[in-house]
Amino acid sequence: MLSSFDIGNVRVSPNLVLAPMSGVTNSCFRKLIRGENPGALGLAVTEFISIEGLTRRNGRSLQMMEYGEEDRPISIQIFGYDIDRMVEAAKMVEDTGANIVDINCGCPVPKVVKRGGGCELMRQTFHLNKILTRVVKAVSIPVTLKIRSGWDDESRNALDVGRMAEDAGVAMLAVHGRTRKALYRGIADWEIVAQVADELKIPVVGSGDIIDVDSAKQALSSGVAGIMIGRGAMANPWIFAEIAAAVRGEPFERPGVLETIELLERYSLILSERMPERGVTGKMKQLASQATRRLKGSSKARRAICTSQSLAEMLEVLEQWREYVLSDGSEGAAIISTAQELPLGELAP
Ligand SMILES: Cc1cc2nc3c(=O)[nH]c(=O)nc-3n(C[C@H](O)[C@H](O)[C@H](O)COP(=O)(O)O)c2cc1C
Repeated sequence: MLSSFDIGNVRVSPNLVLAPMSGVTNSCFRKLIRGENPGALGLAVTEFISIEGLTRRNGRSLQMMEYGEEDRPISIQIFGYDIDRMVEAAKMVEDTGANIVDINCGCPVPKVVKRGGGCELMRQTFHLNKILTRVVKAVSIPVTLKIRSGWDDESRNALDVGRMAEDAGVAMLAVHGRTRKALYRGIADWEIVAQVADELKIPVVGSGDIIDVDSAKQALSSGVAGIMIGRGAMANPWIFAEIAAAVRGEPFERPGVLETIELLERYSLILSERMPERGVTGKMKQLASQATRRLKGSSKARRAICTSQSLAEMLEVLEQWREYVLSDGSEGAAIISTAQELPLGELAP
């Protein structure tokens, strides 16, 4: 059975969480995923937002905090180093009416860690403690923390950081079972995730390499309060519904090519409401490049989508793909005839 858990006064039910992904989990992507997985997503987290940008009222940063009412419970993730700005940014998050403010301690990107933010805070635990203590005091919504297993294999201090966070009043800890040094390589270490979950009193959410029902079930059996899914939601936008159905022992028909085409069309509508065409095509390509991969015989269509020069061209490709699949009757052989005529750009063989 899927369960639920509480982050302070916020109930997360079921215990499946959409992971924060920079450049991906904006309000459009979250709206899409919520819509495709009704009742199966317990919490969504925004992409990380700079406290430097937020506290300087940078338009893009402010926009990244936006969410719809259907997007609750919503956690807004912030990152940075400066204590006063972290406190101010957390208050700004609270002022939007968000349910939770999450602090990023996991980002491995040099630009972020060089300025003391992201995973660097796992090496500066004294400073992190001050941040957490001040932020917890400053806001009345729950404060959560997302960390990695440590900086590198020699300093896997997730448990120490977790204990410190718990003492500072943090209401939930998310652990991605990789070190900063590992970036996204190798496989996530769920032993350390399980150990942290076992030792702490606050709920611990595990993250890393959950890509299907089997990996989800295995992750859920590690003793965590909930699981977080990132890349798996791009590769399979119905993953939450699929996991929820599997855990309930209900049948779930895996959406195929036609459903994926429709999903991409729906995404284009959601995106078009919020951004100019260039942004729309960029995000469409991002999702299409991942979500079509599991469809056998989709490489030509994928290439045609990803090399489209305009939204109209992209929608035309989708339509042709649909027509081909319908006429052929075989989803497996979904190859569009016009792929060769379209500019293939750098993807060309
Ligand atoms: C493109 C991308 C962007 C990410 N951005 C963030 C972020 O902004 N904040 C964060 O805490 N983690 C971020 N992560 C890490 C994910 O939240 C997650 O912990 C990690 O990808 C492992 O989970 P997965 O295997 O389900 O993707 C990002 C990961 C990816 C792939």
